Amino acid sequence: MCSPEHFAVEYAINPWMDVTAPVDPELAVKQWDRLRETLVGLGHEVHLLVPEAGLPDMVFAANGAFVVDGTVYGARFKHHQRAAEAAAHRAFYESQGWRFIAPNETNEGEGDFAYLPEAHGGLILAGHGFRTELPAHAEAQEALGRPVVSLRLVDPRFYHLDVALASIDDGNIVYYPGAFSAASQKVLAQLFPDAVLADDDDALAFGLNLVSDGANVVLNSEATRLAGRLKTAGYTPVPVELAELKKGGGSVKCCIAELRH
Ligand code: ARG
Repeated sequence: MCSPEHFAVEYAINPWMDVTAPVDPELAVKQWDRLRETLVGLGHEVHLLVPEAGLPDMVFAANGAFVVDGTVYGARFKHHQRAAEAAAHRAFYESQGWRFIAPNETNEGEGDFAYLPEAHGGLILAGHGFRTELPAHAEAQEALGRPVVSLRLVDPRFYHLDVALASIDDGNIVYYPGAFSAASQKVLAQLFPDAVLADDDDALAFGLNLVSDGANVVLNSEATRLAGRLKTAGYTPVPVELAELKKGGGSVKCCIAELRH
């Protein structure tokens, strides 16, 4: 995770960002701190990246890389405003001794890649259409040695895979079908017949931008309906308020890069 000390909306690279809307950086830090404490409280170890001035989106740590089985596939940002973030993530992984593979193709890390270790023997789901480019999916498959299923995102409000789909345990997902092309919806229905489906309200409240440890599902507090559905499905929803960061177009999952040994 990376503190939103320098968080601001200085440019607009997704439909949620409005450079004229005021942001309260102190409140952003407070809300982000609650998220960090929630994860620690659930027993997770949290490493911190040092935030850098001039990189206002650095709080969205999920975009910096994608890690599977101890191997790190690095990010290469689409927009120049975020390009320098990739080096900070790379330095973190290299200093910790992770195997790091530098990308040639444009991709925004866990923003567009999800890993399901127990689905069909270990499956990577990958989004394209707005940020990550299709050739990066093949590059990730070669880097990580797991099959990659390409899914096309079609609604600009859901510009990253992780605002439309999340793993809720090692083998199952929750997603908002409307964010995907008709063909990609068919692929998801075939691969995940037991998936939990979210509706428009859940998706627009950033409900899908969640992190689950298989039992506890940490999600945006505004996604009350989705929290109910997850409860019915046997999970424990853990709501967290992240209204300030939503102004940047992100929520829980965007703030967290998962380290998979
Ligand atoms: N403002 C950031 C951007 O547009 C938000 C990134 C959100 N991160 C995510 N993993 N969806 O790039």
